Amino acid sequence: MIAAVVQARMGSSRLPGKTLADVAGRPMLARLVERARRIEGVQAVIIATTDRPADNAIVAFADQAGLPVHRGSETDVLDRVHGAATRFGASVIVRVTPDCPLLDPVIAGRVLARFREGGGLLDYVSNTQPPTFPDGQDTEVFSLVALATAWREARLTSEREHVTPFIWKQPGRFRLANVTHVEDLSHLRWTVDEPADLEFVRAVYRRLGAEQPFGMEDILELLEREPSLLDLNRSFTRNEGYAKSLRADRAAGDAPGGPFMDTPRRLTRSEEYFARAEKVIPSATQTFSKGHTQFVRGVAPLFLQRAQGSHVWDVDGHEYIDYPMALGPIVLGHNDPDVDAAVRAQLADGIAFSLPHPLEVEVSELLTEIIPCAEMVRFGKNGSDATSGAVRVARAYTGRERIAACGYHGWQDWYIGATTRHRGVPAAVRELTHLFAYNDVASLDRLLDAHPGQFAAVIMEPVGVVEPAGGFLEQVAARARAHGAVLIYDEVVTSFRVALGGAMAHYGVTPDLACIGKAMANGFPVSAVVGRRDIMQVFDEIFFSFTFGGEALSLAAARATITKLRNEPVIPHLWRQGRRLQDGYNARARELKLDGLTRCIGLPPRTVLTFADRQGRESLAMKSLFQQEVVRRGILSAGGFNICYRHDDADVERTLAACGEALTVLAGAVEADDVEARLAGPVIQPVFRRA
Ligand SMILES: Cc1ncc(COP(=O)(O)O)c(C=O)c1O
Repeated sequence: MIAAVVQARMGSSRLPGKTLADVAGRPMLARLVERARRIEGVQAVIIATTDRPADNAIVAFADQAGLPVHRGSETDVLDRVHGAATRFGASVIVRVTPDCPLLDPVIAGRVLARFREGGGLLDYVSNTQPPTFPDGQDTEVFSLVALATAWREARLTSEREHVTPFIWKQPGRFRLANVTHVEDLSHLRWTVDEPADLEFVRAVYRRLGAEQPFGMEDILELLEREPSLLDLNRSFTRNEGYAKSLRADRAAGDAPGGPFMDTPRRLTRSEEYFARAEKVIPSATQTFSKGHTQFVRGVAPLFLQRAQGSHVWDVDGHEYIDYPMALGPIVLGHNDPDVDAAVRAQLADGIAFSLPHPLEVEVSELLTEIIPCAEMVRFGKNGSDATSGAVRVARAYTGRERIAACGYHGWQDWYIGATTRHRGVPAAVRELTHLFAYNDVASLDRLLDAHPGQFAAVIMEPVGVVEPAGGFLEQVAARARAHGAVLIYDEVVTSFRVALGGAMAHYGVTPDLACIGKAMANGFPVSAVVGRRDIMQVFDEIFFSFTFGGEALSLAAARATITKLRNEPVIPHLWRQGRRLQDGYNARARELKLDGLTRCIGLPPRTVLTFADRQGRESLAMKSLFQQEVVRRGILSAGGFNICYRHDDADVERTLAACGEALTVLAGAVEADDVEARLAGPVIQPVFRRA
């Protein structure tokens, strides 16, 4: 059934009792009901009022008019409308409000017709997104299914008080359409909130005759004849009620938001937190890659507040499709229900214990089942724990000190001393780490030849952003073994993302040791060194031991994450969605003749965008402009895509649309040679450069 649901109550902050106020001899609500009944396609008009005693008057009115009536919460209007719709069997809801006694049934009928033309493919149609009709012609039509989803999931004050924001704020999730007027008439105020508005409406009824079914065109003609009528209520703003409940959201500390809708963005709270952070936190962040130099200031948020699935919300309430995914750990999606349930269950049992916990055994056993090189396991917290533990055990095992490294391996002295950000690392330590180039086995050969018999380990990311050239991984493995060095794969990024067994399983080359982390526990902090038994046993003799090594919440999360990765097609999903993004991005870049300047490279579960100027030099300015333009469109990307199990088709489509627009801006800027001039803030900065 298609029903017009009229939410009516006596309470009103500015005009109490307005709903039953007299308009040309009948209550205002009766005027609206008359008009709602004339909307073509509407089969019933239902009154949804509150259970407050004052609203007995509304119920009496409805009873007298023979209208079905439902009573519910005054503030949770979403619940009230949902209750009315389900109780009287409405499958399509036409939402109108009694403060619109000049509603034109023909216009409302057009909104309903648009919904029906969708043939079940639309969830929500209105004439308010954006408004082009006079204020007071607002009509929204939506399915009970969409309403029920909002009813189940909406949490913000604004979403509960105003029924539909949960739906229209999520164009990626709900299928939306808008009916527009050729001319923007949204400045005209025909709604009733203030005494002056009521005066205006009464004046219109007096002139056009209460018994005539007059519509918008008649009122427009009247206003042309008698423009002074406009002065009656000219000074009031549209949609004050919604603005008020947005303020309530913020007061409650839970901010409203909507992707893709709020330009120019307000980042007030981000900036406030940043100002406070600068006073108490060096660099204002715990992790450089999340810091303020990594995104374009003034456009990108500085602080995030909450996350769900593939989306995140910043502290100012803006919603984004998330691609950093917390720098990689989130593989199932934020707040995965299975992982979170496992953690909650463990929380009830305890967090950290004075003796080993069975989970240490169980997760170790799981890892030995899925990771080719894993015969034994030791846990850490960060990836850096794992790489540093692996390097130390390799040194102890071989009795040697030099390390050949390729890739990024974390913050500890042995590695970071080899980069440009090496202040504080003793020269004696720095001299022991040598970097070689990916896909360049000769660069490794030169190191090994220069220091015969001195390398304890060759540690490398088996795949970073560039894929291994044919035979490269095999050649490195052969060189390391011939030299007597331990081959360590740093799979902190690739583990649990590229394949269940990591990149070593994907490429079929098995190292002696591997370092795993990031996605292992879907956001909980845990990493591990895994590998050959004879080497791992040397952990007995070195010092790799810390208070939180066997912390149980993260291990419970790891068990749940790995179990889900094993049982559900998570990794194929990452490949599929990642490939769609990669192919779509590169196709758009080609169309815009940008393919020499920007590309999406890497394995689909985790891709990276490259930007180079016409001379082929890496361009952080171009990367900044791209990032700025996508963040404006509700996409948070630091310059690549980490896919999670919850990135659905709508996310991918939305992202590709935003990328297409951002690339168009970039193409224009490259053409005009004014990339930097188009940035709202400074160019983003690299964290460090390798030495
Ligand atoms: C390949 C690789 N190894 C090691 C690390 C260090 O991990 P963490 O930052 O957890 O210490 C990272 C972090 O990004 C990484 O990408």
